[in-house]
Amino acid sequence: IADGTDLKQEIRRLAKEKNALILAHYYTRGEIQEVADFIGDSLALARKAAETDADMIVMCGVHFMAETCKILSPEKKVLCPDVTAGCSLADSCRAEDLKKYKEEHPGYQVISYVNTTAAVKALTDVVVTSGNAKKIVDTFPADAKLIFGPDYNLGSYINSVTGRNMLLWNGGCHVHERFSVAEIAKLKADHPKALVLAHPECKGPVLAVADVVGSTAVLLKYAVEHPEQEYIVATESGILHEMQRQCPTTMFYPVPPEVSEGGLGCSCNECDYMKKNTLEKIYHTLRHEWPTVEVDEATARDAVKPIERMLALS
Ligand code: 13P
Ligand code: SF4
Repeated sequence: IADGTDLKQEIRRLAKEKNALILAHYYTRGEIQEVADFIGDSLALARKAAETDADMIVMCGVHFMAETCKILSPEKKVLCPDVTAGCSLADSCRAEDLKKYKEEHPGYQVISYVNTTAAVKALTDVVVTSGNAKKIVDTFPADAKLIFGPDYNLGSYINSVTGRNMLLWNGGCHVHERFSVAEIAKLKADHPKALVLAHPECKGPVLAVADVVGSTAVLLKYAVEHPEQEYIVATESGILHEMQRQCPTTMFYPVPPEVSEGGLGCSCNECDYMKKNTLEKIYHTLRHEWPTVEVDEATARDAVKPIERMLALS
């Protein structure tokens, strides 16, 4: 394989030969989004995994997304180009801690964000994504006792738009927590007419100054429907690839994260886990049909119910 172009062709050839479906999240590198059969937000990717008749799925995203594919399509081979592509948000809720918390709160039902391990989903009543969380929370009776986790910012936001008082897990995403009102204000000073698009994993003050709050697909849809506007984008910068592709003349300004005191730490607004996916890894994964993602039977049996409940409700 001499260069990136050949690699893309080889990936497509192998995918056809093996009847493999390549799924990619909007946060992956542009070249990966270009080689995929389908790109989407977490909800759309889960839907696609549930309905495909391909023999295998290559999930270019993070590990919990591949687990969700496997739970929904247990008979298929689910490949993950880099099984170390984790998620700081999923890591912020361990199954044993959630189990203990549930025991301490009898009578409560658990609503879990899709950014969780299969083991956490197995302890959950219904899974949500940022694209359907409000709709699903609204289906519970007003007096229902609810635990929402693990994303604290998304949970607070959903509490505010539904008038609920769900108990919130104190988890977060290391990328979205670093966006600040100060950085948005700097961009606003240069581009006063630009609308602010923010993912609900951002902190409350950031969401308070946003014009549109939603999942990656919701933010993209808004931009596509209003290409005459310009946008300040407070989410992982990978989404700009598809935004710019669908709105070639629209100006998008990615929000840089607040640099920590002393200027230390990563100064990029990228998810290092999502960026672990590369064309080389996809090629080798398809060629060797490895590594696969497995979920043990008992966990999968319990985890599939709240995911299917989500798909039925959204
Ligand atoms: P979406 O469901 O909006 O694509 O979000 C997934 C994610 O990991 C956000 O950080
Ligand atoms: Fe997880 Fe944050 Fe990366 Fe999304 S952006 S996959 S929540 S670490």
